[in-house]
Amino acid sequence: PREEFVTELMGKMTIDEKIGQLVQFTADGTITGPKSGNNFIDEIKKGNVGSILNATGVEYTRKLQKLNMDNSRLKIPLLFGYDVIHGYRTIFPITLGEAASWDLKAAELSARIAAEEAAASGVHWTFAPMVDISRDPRWGRVSEGSGEDTYLGSKLAFARVKGFQGNDLMSLETILACTKHFAAYGAAEAGRDYNTVDMSERVLRETYLPPFKATVDAGVRTFMTSFNEISGVPSTGSKFLVNGVLKTEWNFDGFVVTDYTGINEMVPHGYAKDNQHAGELALTAGVDMDMVGGVYLKNLKKSLDEGKVTMAQIDDACRRILEAKYDLGLFHDPYRYNDEKREKATITKKEYLDAALDIANKSMVLLKNDNNVLPLKKDQKVAFVGPLISDEWNIIGSWAATGDRYGFAVSLQEGVNNLIKDKSKVSFEKGVEILKDDRSMMAKAIESARNADVIVAVMGEFENMTGEAASRTNIDLPGIQKEFLAELKKLNKPIVLVLLNGRPLTLTWENDNMDAILEAWWPGTMGGDAIAQTLYGVSNPSGKLPMTFPRNVGQVPLYYNHKNTGRPYLGKTDPEQKYKSRYIDVDNSPLYPFGYGLSYTTFSYSNLKLSSDKINFTDKLKISVEVANTGNYDGEEVVQLYIQDKIGTVTRPVRELKGFEKIALKKGEKKTVEFEISADDLRFYNIDMDFVAEPGDFEVFVGGSSATEMNNKFVLVR
Ligand code: IFM
Repeated sequence: PREEFVTELMGKMTIDEKIGQLVQFTADGTITGPKSGNNFIDEIKKGNVGSILNATGVEYTRKLQKLNMDNSRLKIPLLFGYDVIHGYRTIFPITLGEAASWDLKAAELSARIAAEEAAASGVHWTFAPMVDISRDPRWGRVSEGSGEDTYLGSKLAFARVKGFQGNDLMSLETILACTKHFAAYGAAEAGRDYNTVDMSERVLRETYLPPFKATVDAGVRTFMTSFNEISGVPSTGSKFLVNGVLKTEWNFDGFVVTDYTGINEMVPHGYAKDNQHAGELALTAGVDMDMVGGVYLKNLKKSLDEGKVTMAQIDDACRRILEAKYDLGLFHDPYRYNDEKREKATITKKEYLDAALDIANKSMVLLKNDNNVLPLKKDQKVAFVGPLISDEWNIIGSWAATGDRYGFAVSLQEGVNNLIKDKSKVSFEKGVEILKDDRSMMAKAIESARNADVIVAVMGEFENMTGEAASRTNIDLPGIQKEFLAELKKLNKPIVLVLLNGRPLTLTWENDNMDAILEAWWPGTMGGDAIAQTLYGVSNPSGKLPMTFPRNVGQVPLYYNHKNTGRPYLGKTDPEQKYKSRYIDVDNSPLYPFGYGLSYTTFSYSNLKLSSDKINFTDKLKISVEVANTGNYDGEEVVQLYIQDKIGTVTRPVRELKGFEKIALKKGEKKTVEFEISADDLRFYNIDMDFVAEPGDFEVFVGGSSATEMNNKFVLVR
């Protein structure tokens, strides 16, 4: 029926009406690029618009839909898209923070809740998940992704699509997902947003594309092209990527939208001579919808008349978009997402807030905890200081959709007050601001700290310091925060640093001088409660870093699955210190490696066993390890499996994540964790670009971070 319906409808459509479906305009809301100059209301009335972004809420989306239904000739419903990245109104930790939970169920759940709220609020389509792998924390958009690892990123990408789209798009609780940004946007040179990407096809396919493919496997219905060029070709004009890899190799049958004015930007890229030419390149590459640029609307008919594009190309794009609208049930009822009562009953339901709290707790990463300063005890006197103690804006973080910062989100101060009833035990003084060199508040805060048993400094980045167009060359704690910490240090009291930020920071000084460090990211609507619960041990941190923290920005890009080089540096004990692949002015290891994170309890690993020391191409290898909770608290641990392929027809990384399991262990409890791998898990693009495993020696590493030393060996034979 869908095919018949769409065919019949397209039979009635003029060329202009077909092109209209390929057009998306922004409503008067968030603008993240040049304005298109189009009066989107007039264009809607003329039937020239297929989709609107940045319109939200039942009332407003109904108003726009009605304009369309009352005025356009064929009354084809508008599709409303919006950036629902880490929540719609109930805000979850930023995606990078949620990735630190290594909890796929949590990622699926937060996406499901975001979809339920957005759908109840008139939104049909989210521009998420963002699945860009990034190894460069200077890039502001690392906050929106799942970090540096392809395996972890692919699993999370799959889970998030399932969460947004569910199994049935007709359900009123699901929305279209959009995998972005296709492709390799996270590999921008020097971490500068929108910058050039140049990489081998092998690296592209092996490191950057798998999370995209995972979302196709999960049934994602839309894709967004990226702003960057790859090896000389802007993604939005790349036949290789869109028609080739995505639509042909992967058989993707949904539709592809550009990023904001992505088509127009092919002109400054130096790839198209003018907008008309850019539109032709985009359509020919397989791009179906033009986000905000107005290029398809203004030029495509002319290009058709001139024989530069074909009717078949326009038809194919139009069909894909109409099919998505059909699947959402919009032809059946264009207002089915516009029910005020449902909107009211759905937004920030208690169960959603509970889930946001739980996931925020799971995203906390304990980076340091000397002398068990944490957890705090309720009878200790604690001085909370720092610019972010009472900041609701920052607690929910960037790209937070319609998240309510004013009074609704729980600040750290509120969270502590919710937990600690004896107010004489806690004090709150900011001391400094992030963006101002103002020292006038410092003395008061230091005085409050002088009277405390423990100091908790809540610091980090300001919300707009990461995200789109927010690359930084300096990833230290900004402003005079470090100076304030140095003053606090003179008091000789234990200091806990709580960080709210959207990227790995360089924390070498902090690691040397603070007693404990808790990476809380931007934890979302319930963030203040989650941090308080973690600090006071109501919740035991179990997050693990999804991205390496360098010691020094000069080490960037720094990631765990690098190549060995011909002169690998073995660290301080290396007998040869000079002619090795190293920097001479910094400890070459990361400050905190990928996969790292402490707990209030301790875990010990033993008995790493393989079911065989030899497997063939059809065997399964079982890898088991015993993990014991040897500390004083119940806790959770992410058990990680890495593999190294020792010799290949092309060189392989020093280790690669191939499995993980998050387990809960009561104090004193021990569990055996088992992984299973086969030759399929050992495949890579060999010298002939075939995706195969090669016989030979492999090393297995298991432990609680990518730096684990526990290892064993096996051989793969034909
Ligand atoms: O979805 C976003 C994208 O990530 C960046 N440019 C704008 C789009 C729509 O808001």
